[in-house]
Amino acid sequence: MLAAPCHAGEVEVLHFWTSGGEAGALAQLKTSIRSKGHAWKDFAVADGGGGLAMTLLSSRVMSGNPPTAAQIKGASIQEWANAGKLANIDALARAEQWDALLPKIVIDTMKFNGHYVAAPLNVHRVNWLWVNAAALKKVNAKLPTTWEEFFTVAAAMRKVGIAPLAYSGQSWLDLGTFETVVIGIAGADFYRRAFMQRDPAALDSAQMEQVLLTFKRIKQYTEPHNKNRDWVAATASLIKGDAGMQLMGDWAKSEITAAGKVPGVDILCTAAPGSSGAFTFDIDSLALFKVSAANQAAQQDLAKAVMGKDFQQAFNLAKGSIPVRQDVKMDRFDECARQSSKDFAASAKRGTLLPSFTHGMGLPYATTLAIWDVIRQYWNQDSMSAKEAMRRLAKVAAQAPAPR
Ligand code: BGC
Repeated sequence: MLAAPCHAGEVEVLHFWTSGGEAGALAQLKTSIRSKGHAWKDFAVADGGGGLAMTLLSSRVMSGNPPTAAQIKGASIQEWANAGKLANIDALARAEQWDALLPKIVIDTMKFNGHYVAAPLNVHRVNWLWVNAAALKKVNAKLPTTWEEFFTVAAAMRKVGIAPLAYSGQSWLDLGTFETVVIGIAGADFYRRAFMQRDPAALDSAQMEQVLLTFKRIKQYTEPHNKNRDWVAATASLIKGDAGMQLMGDWAKSEITAAGKVPGVDILCTAAPGSSGAFTFDIDSLALFKVSAANQAAQQDLAKAVMGKDFQQAFNLAKGSIPVRQDVKMDRFDECARQSSKDFAASAKRGTLLPSFTHGMGLPYATTLAIWDVIRQYWNQDSMSAKEAMRRLAKVAAQAPAPR
């Protein structure tokens, strides 16, 4: 056995990658860290979307005992950095040439006041529709490209006994579905105006009413589910063909491939209805907390491993996302990942790369929670009108901190 190097330390990583596919991807990182002689302490929180994970993280940081790194994203990285809790990893990023290797949007997300405080793992695309190829064939339909086409396919599937839309009881899915409908019905500029800038005129508009009505119309096509059912179970029913379609980010692909199915062949991928010109992004990253001197070398090794070229390929092949490093070749990736990579570049040029606020990008976490609350109530209360939801969204927007 090799002796552990003298700088061996421990990394404790808080994350919510607990599904079979997600855990498989993370195993790549654990192996890499252990091979450097460090101990990996797993702080896994089974809670897709991260709500509970964020609460646990806060209590650990506030009690002066932060983990080495946490799977937090976008605006939350900025908030923790602003509170003075994150480590500056500029020296490592400079030595490893991160500025040259990463797309601008990723660099901006990983830096606070111009300094790197987090290491990026991947880019997930959120605005996907996954379709079981056999189910689509059974109703003799084409992939829907608009919401009206979606409803036609959904009705046809229901007629032949297939649940049209795989669904779960995790309420972040309601918010994610809403976010995707906003783009598909009202477009990228509207999405920015209504949510990033919180323009009252956009929130109180005929377009917003149309978005909310379309969103609610989807509900009748969701497969029966209880509140304890998670997205992984919903994806399993898509894979089996019990359900025909699913609106989900491309982490669904980690379950599809783990089940031995081929994305793009058995389970087709297409941009969510009406949203092919846009790309809602969700960048997974590990924010690095200030840790004791004894564990700083291990923390640096963790950040370095995350950006390693081979690791980026292996992790993203398993995770369903695309690498953040621009020098990783896409030839080993499936058709959906290659499409994602092309669409990411095209959307960056076109100005239609949109932060997914459902997945922690683009908005302060508290603002997302407030929007989420309105959407959850609107989705669950049959008596709430679209106009009432608009009124509540406008109220939330007026109370939220001014956009940066
Ligand atoms: C994360 C993904 C994760 C998914 C489901 C998203 O917010 O970015 O990495 O697989 O949630 O848990």
